[in-house]
Order: sequence, then structure tokens, then C-alpha cells
Amino acid sequence: METEKTQTAAVQTDDRDLSEQIKKATKESHTRAENTEMMLSFQRGQVTLAQYKLLLCSLYEIYQALEEALDRNSNHPAVAPIYFPTELARLKAIEKDLEFFYGRDWREKIVVPDATKRYSHRLRQIGEENPQFLVAHAYTRYLGDLSGGQVLGRIAQKSMGLKNGDGLSFFAFPGVSSPNLFKQLYRSRMNSVELTEQERNDVLQEAVQAFEFNIQVFDGLQKMLSVAEKQQQDYSPNSKSVSARSIQLPQPNFSLVRKVLGLVVALVTISMGIYVVATPNTSYQRPTV
Ligand code: HEM
Repeated sequence: METEKTQTAAVQTDDRDLSEQIKKATKESHTRAENTEMMLSFQRGQVTLAQYKLLLCSLYEIYQALEEALDRNSNHPAVAPIYFPTELARLKAIEKDLEFFYGRDWREKIVVPDATKRYSHRLRQIGEENPQFLVAHAYTRYLGDLSGGQVLGRIAQKSMGLKNGDGLSFFAFPGVSSPNLFKQLYRSRMNSVELTEQERNDVLQEAVQAFEFNIQVFDGLQKMLSVAEKQQQDYSPNSKSVSARSIQLPQPNFSLVRKVLGLVVALVTISMGIYVVATPNTSYQRPTV
């Protein structure tokens, strides 16, 4: 649960606050992220199970890297103030959702686009080399999950007809009773991080980069889905796609086979008849008068 401080956090903003600067610096990126095909599907209530399942695979890869880096640097002066594993950690929730959709052997089934690998690689790299940049990445993901993410969760539930929160643990923050109050606390903690002017500028740039990574992940997932859909169309016998029609295999002509078989049977019958008539019967002796 969030601390008592959450409930009383003062809502005072200043242009020099990191939380204000980061919001401003990423405003345009946020709009682009909202307008990716994947996010538009969510907003229109048209998110499919295939889209959501693939998204979860990428989120697993991303949060594994992010939370490993945060855990490893939890005592770093730029990380400690924004380190809230009890309230925010997503990894276990995503694992639960993946098991719901893919079964117990989900680890062998998950697939991620290259863009996701590039994002998780960057997270691991800054975890080792520039832990202060984790502020930018944690802000982008966690504050996003606590903002638009909450609406997206409800849309996803309706679009896919999921019941009892099954498959939707990712969107649930049982340790945060008020997302708005928690975000206020989080922003005040971000503002308490001490950074030089250069470090601050670098963090702002890294936040823009974090949004860019997310946009590329969504685009990569969408590309994966359209390739899979196209392959399905190509191999489906009922497909109306041009490629499927143009590569149809020759089908056996059953009426011709039936006619040939009938002819063969007729010929065999006639031949046997001729044989019986033409051959003298040796076993039967006509009685002599
Ligand atoms: C369908 C897509 C999205 C919608 C509808 C949406 C909507 C919103 C809304 C309404 C807020 C403002 C909440 C508030 O002021 O309390 C917000 C904040 C935020 N969103 Fe999104 N969002 C979307 C996608 C994303 C994505 C993809 C990311 C990043 C990966 C993201 C990251 C953020 C962040 C970091 C904030 C906090 C901004 C701040 O207060 O500093 N959002 N979002």
C-alpha cells in the first residue's frame, strides 16, 4: 500500500521540477504513442486477443529488464526515491496473465519483436552504466500504466469479454488505492532526485527515447500480427485472398474416378461372361440316354 504521505502529498508544481519538465519534453511523443495502430485499437475498443497476447509477451520482456535494473540499483541516489516495488512491480502480474492465456509452458511460447529486444537491451545497459536514467524509464512505464493504462484495462476487458479479472492482472495495482494520489507522490519523489544540469537534460532526452522505444515495440507487434494474418489467409482453403487463390493445389476429380471405376467393373463382368459361355464344362457329365 502507498504510504500515508501519498494521501497528503502537496500538489505544487514548478517549471524547474523534473516531473513538469519530463511531461513537457515527452508531450509530443505521448501523442505519437497514443496514435500507434496498437493503441488506437485499444481506444476504439477493437483490441483483439491476438494483439493483447502479443503485447503481454513484450511487456514481460520489458518489465523483466526494467525491474531487474531497478532492484539492482535500489540504493542508487537517483533510484531510491522512486523505488516502489510493492506498489508498482508488474512482472508477477504479467506472468499470471501469460499463464492464463498460454498455459503453464508459456515461457516456451512467448515471442517478441526485435524492437522489444532493443528496448530491454537498453534497459539492461543503463542499469549497469547510467542508473540515473532509470527515472526516465520508470516514469514512462509506471505513470503511463497508472494513467491511460487504467482506462485501457477496462476497454480490454470489454473488448475481449474477459471475466473476473482473468488475464488482466497487468492493469491492476492492488497496492495503490488512489492512482491520482500515488502519481502525486511519485512526481514529488522524482523532483527530489538531485541531478546536475547536464544529467537532467540527459534524463529528459532518455524519457523521449523511452517513448520512442515503446512506439517501436507497438509498431513491431503490429507488423508481426499482419504477417501472421497474411500467412493464415494464404493457407486457409476458404481464403478470398489473391495469393491463396493463385496457389491452389489441383483437387482430385471424384466423378471421373467413379466413371473409370464403373467402366472397369463393367469390362471385368463382360469378360467373365464371355469366358463362362466359351469354355466347355468339364466337371458336368450329361447323362447318357
Ligand atoms: C491509448 C493510449 C493512451 C492513452 C489514451 C493515454 C492517456 C493518458 C492520459 C489521459 C494521461 C493523463 C493522466 C493524468 O493527467 O492524470 C496520460 C498520462 C501519461 N501517459 Fe498516457 N496514454 C496512452 C498511452 C501511453 C503510452 C503508450 C505511454 C508510454 C509508454 C504513456 C505514458 C504516459 C505517462 C508517462 C503519463 C504521465 C504524464 C504525467 O503526468 O507526467 N501513455 N496518458
